[in-house]
Amino acid sequence: MPCSFILATSTVLILGIESSCDETAAAVVADGREIRSSVVQSQIDLHRTYGGVVPELACRAHIETIQPVVEKALADAGIGLSDVDAIAVTNAPGLVGALLVGVSFAKSLALATGKPLVAVDHIHGHIYAVKLGCPALEYPCVSLVVSGGHTSLYLSKSEIEHERLGGTTDDAAGEAFDKVAKILELGFPGGPLIDRLSRGRDPSKVAFKRTVPEGLDFSFSGIKTGVLYKVRGQDAKAAMTLSEDERRDVAAGFQEAVVDVLVEQTLKACRKTRAFRIGVGGGVACNTRLREKLEAAAAREGYRCFFPPPVYCTDNAAMIAGLGWHLLKAGKTADLWLDAVATKKTRGR
Ligand code: KG4
Ligand code: ZN
Repeated sequence: MPCSFILATSTVLILGIESSCDETAAAVVADGREIRSSVVQSQIDLHRTYGGVVPELACRAHIETIQPVVEKALADAGIGLSDVDAIAVTNAPGLVGALLVGVSFAKSLALATGKPLVAVDHIHGHIYAVKLGCPALEYPCVSLVVSGGHTSLYLSKSEIEHERLGGTTDDAAGEAFDKVAKILELGFPGGPLIDRLSRGRDPSKVAFKRTVPEGLDFSFSGIKTGVLYKVRGQDAKAAMTLSEDERRDVAAGFQEAVVDVLVEQTLKACRKTRAFRIGVGGGVACNTRLREKLEAAAAREGYRCFFPPPVYCTDNAAMIAGLGWHLLKAGKTADLWLDAVATKKTRGR
């Protein structure tokens, strides 16, 4: 069925599917904006023991949960598969085995029903989640995507046009939070734990050296190594002997360093592009200190920040279904040869 015909009908319902990392998610979104259902089955409990996402376990869990999650999303929206106008699925970037589960499932649904298939980039999905959560956001804007797998800046010209300005050259910000939480023996995922422990502490008590690359890139591994040496000595082998208060001060100092680098590079991107709006997406966009400091620094320079509610920051399929509508409208459909494309990185996600 041609997309123009579908989009001429009154309400267009997109079923979105997301399985790029450790969340199996499905959602039904109407006309790119109205979330009719959003189901997220997290695998955090499965990976907690290992202090990080184990790809093999993630794939197996996606295989087990994808069908019930999609069925629940349809049931919560009060519709059947035949009521859906198109199927949108995350096909890149992420863990290749995890992505393949969602992509294969979506392709099967498209083949069985004859509905159009739309391929959605996960990072662009995080950028669109800002618009979903903050409808007042307009383009152009600088988009900062900060998650467990990605830390990048974009100039977003529309919902579907994003020019990459820079990104991390080593760890993603969320990955650094998770690794530092492991060093501090806090648990997984580290971001929310470090955020909570740092509240009310003086972040200058234990300061870490910031690395700010010349352009619009990021680097967090130096700050992470600084924490490792601080906690386990220069040979990184000593046992962790910090008191509870010292641990909280280290956490606060680490968080402050990461936040400062994110704020500095984001404002640099605004000055360079002359965009005066900033959208922040991805799991680390939940961070209270980042929200506080970026909002204050942006306001000082006359920029406006848009942070979606936390439920839109972390992985979900509503952002995939919502962006899928815009891609469908632009005629960007995929065929059944659609493949999963992994993150181009040798470490982390
Ligand atoms: O976007 P997301 O759900 O998954 C990826 O696409 O990676 O992000 C998960 C990441 C984890 O690294 C987690 O530690 C981090 O987001 N995170 C936070 C906070 N909440 C989640 N990092 C810092 N502060 C938070 N409050
Ligand atoms: Zn994500």
